[in-house]
Amino acid sequence: MKTNIALIGFMGVGKTAVGKVLAKELDRMFIELDALIEQRAGKTIREIFVHHGEMAFRELEIEVTKEVSEGKNVVIACGGGIVLNQVNIDRLRQKSIIVYLTASPAVILKRILPDGRQRPLLQGANPSLAVQELLRFRRPLYERAADITVNTSKIDVGAVVKRIVEKIKEDEGLN
Ligand code: S3P
Repeated sequence: MKTNIALIGFMGVGKTAVGKVLAKELDRMFIELDALIEQRAGKTIREIFVHHGEMAFRELEIEVTKEVSEGKNVVIACGGGIVLNQVNIDRLRQKSIIVYLTASPAVILKRILPDGRQRPLLQGANPSLAVQELLRFRRPLYERAADITVNTSKIDVGAVVKRIVEKIKEDEGLN
């Protein structure tokens, strides 16, 4: 029985902004995995990466995803790297419809550069190249995980939410 929606996709596609509105619309609780990880660790995502490394972050991500994926009636905004460990997707899929939000690399860059310092994976000299390379590697993983895909490049949050609700109705629907 699927009563949850999990939002996946690259940094900057709007998972958090869309998730909050979608949760309100569907009268479900909103959970942001990164925020939960920060709460548990008592550190920001950036601090976890800097002090303990990406592997430690991914372990926390797996732990928190396991817990959250067992819940009911929640909208879950996942971190951009959730697909790197297939176990996360396998667990989410049991009770969640997986919605993949996309955007063009140019739109992604425009959205994430203003708070670029908060994005540990884009700290190098060439964030634009980093986005392209990460996207090339991850795109097939997102596509394989997705039940529903919505391109957010040219539409606002409200319109994205509307598309998601329509597509869910067209498909299997929520329990
Ligand atoms: C990451 C994306 C971030 C955060 C962490 C790693 C990634 O989440 O989980 O910095 O690997 O793409 P957002 O997608 O919410 O920015």
